Amino acid sequence: MMRVGFAYYPEHWPRSRWKRDAGLMKRGGFNVVRMAEFAWAFMEPEEGRYTFDWLDEALDILGKHGISAILCTPTAVMPAWCAAKYPETLATQANGQRIVWGVRKNNCFTSGTYRLLSERITRAMAEHFRNASNVIGWQTDNEFGGPACYCATCRSEFRGWLRRKYGSLDRLNRALGTHFWGHIYTDWDQIQAPVDEGGHNPSLCLEWCRFNSWLNVRFQRDQVRILREVCPRHFVTHNFMGLYNNLNYYELAEDLDHVSWDNYPVWGKPEVPYGAAAAADVMRGLKRRNFWIMEQTAGPGGWGTFGRNPRPGEIRKIAYQQVGHGAESIIWFRWRTCTAGREQYWHGILGHDGRPLRRYREASKTARELRALGDLLSGTTVRTPVAFIYDYESQWALRIQPAFPENNPHQAMFRYYNALFRLGIQTDMISPARDLAEYRVVVAPDLYLLPDSLARRLCEFVRKGGVLLTDCRTGVKDETGLCHPRTLPGLLRSCLGIEIQEYETLAKDMEYSVEGKEELAGSYAAVHYADWVIPRGAELLARYTDSHMKKYAAVTRYRCGRGWGYYVGAVIREDGFYDALMAEILRSAHIKPFLSPPAGVEVCMREGAAKRLLFLINHAEEPRLVSLPCKAHDALSRRQVSGEIELEPFGIAVLRV
Ligand code: GAL
Ligand code: ZN
Repeated sequence: MMRVGFAYYPEHWPRSRWKRDAGLMKRGGFNVVRMAEFAWAFMEPEEGRYTFDWLDEALDILGKHGISAILCTPTAVMPAWCAAKYPETLATQANGQRIVWGVRKNNCFTSGTYRLLSERITRAMAEHFRNASNVIGWQTDNEFGGPACYCATCRSEFRGWLRRKYGSLDRLNRALGTHFWGHIYTDWDQIQAPVDEGGHNPSLCLEWCRFNSWLNVRFQRDQVRILREVCPRHFVTHNFMGLYNNLNYYELAEDLDHVSWDNYPVWGKPEVPYGAAAAADVMRGLKRRNFWIMEQTAGPGGWGTFGRNPRPGEIRKIAYQQVGHGAESIIWFRWRTCTAGREQYWHGILGHDGRPLRRYREASKTARELRALGDLLSGTTVRTPVAFIYDYESQWALRIQPAFPENNPHQAMFRYYNALFRLGIQTDMISPARDLAEYRVVVAPDLYLLPDSLARRLCEFVRKGGVLLTDCRTGVKDETGLCHPRTLPGLLRSCLGIEIQEYETLAKDMEYSVEGKEELAGSYAAVHYADWVIPRGAELLARYTDSHMKKYAAVTRYRCGRGWGYYVGAVIREDGFYDALMAEILRSAHIKPFLSPPAGVEVCMREGAAKRLLFLINHAEEPRLVSLPCKAHDALSRRQVSGEIELEPFGIAVLRV
């Protein structure tokens, strides 16, 4: 069943309006709302006094209109009384100053008081709403990822966490390489929380990232435990932020039934939303299952200045893109634009005036369609033989030491991802712990932290017939952030057939020319970074041509066992290079795209329960023609189609093939 609806804030409007809201939702074909994530002060106006009557009433009205609700633990904004009475619940910044209350997400996660207050409101809500007939599930907090806190408790918990992890100072000193600059600890109390990622020991900074991620996971776990105990029939989810990478989302997802995420792709001029596609794949990969959209662009957004309006067709198109990647709900943020507060201009489906206009009509059309597709979609998800290893810890380590200023792990990923997207191939985003055997291609961009165990698994994947693509800065470090004392690419040499004795970064005004051969024929520019790759058995697919670089490869291919190991030792400027490379990789892996999409058209496939559903999504504002390789049944028009079909601007098609 598809859930379609809104983030809804009855507490922002007079009760006299609530029936009209519910009526409009029902009339529009919507069936779900999410509520109360910022309503702590409305539910506990003073410590220990709970007031749920307003929410009971709102739920009741919604229920009478056939609308279900997801309730949230409201801990993303502490009430004013909490900050005033227990100032230690506010986070302390790196400069030692406490955050001034009044924005949101400003709590300290180790404060025992805050944790206790969080458990109390969670339990009070759970007990009060456990039998509310239209409550279906819970969202924990809102968009975890608050500021790191440097208060005394957090710093001492950090030490305790390290102590549990390493057991002895000796092991800690070795793991973090504290011999450098003589940073050797002789007492646990000497360990500082690093305040400057660009200056402190990178290994310590990495541990600080892990610790802060864990604090969020622990905080959520305390809430989940209560929700599970009191409300066993409700699901528990959280609204993740797509490509946000400051937390280890795999760990945050572990305690939940499913992942939900907040999708805001409307910024700047309309363009192909590769980011929203990749984010959806990351979200699906966290638990290896379909996800919910808990918030989605409904109108111009911004806190001071604000962005553009979704154009006709765009609200619907954004929704279908997510469904094509595995979304089981579309919830827009928000129902009606609030007349007050910091998000006055974060526009909802309705404006300040509360009238159901163009955006409402488009959301309503989308809702009706998606609900009608519900049965067809059920039991289906994305299945693909291509996976990217998406590793949070490598991303943290690269943020701490990016090698070149422009290096951003997502940019590296998108060079390959976007090319596959253009070729009509979907991908899974997987944790490094995942079994690789079910894939034929594994892309591991910027896999900077490479424990030996993972290196061995990658080599075995190749030997057994897999195609591995990896690139510069892969395998440089071990899991505690020490550089491997080996010639690069370390253990991966056995599946890549290369050696890298030297490497360098290239400043803005520097580049090398690169000449590709065979499938990669063409002239390209290496920018930002260059490995001086020496083939040791690998074939050379592209070489540098500048005089001192002539003998080095930039891109290689190696036959290892039954598989292939590809290496890209530079950042190549041209998109065309990546298009050719990914086409070559697909050939090596014997993967054929279902169809070749025209520019701007995205191809998604959901499969399962003996069904195959092809999603065609036109991100362009002009019509596009797509040639189908076979006859199909159009699930929306309920007609047979074949040959060429036309997608209108921002148009979509869902075809059973
Ligand atoms: C999300 C957040 C919402 C709202 C929205 C618009 O990130 O979860 O509460 O703030 O952005 O700013
Ligand atoms: Zn703290």
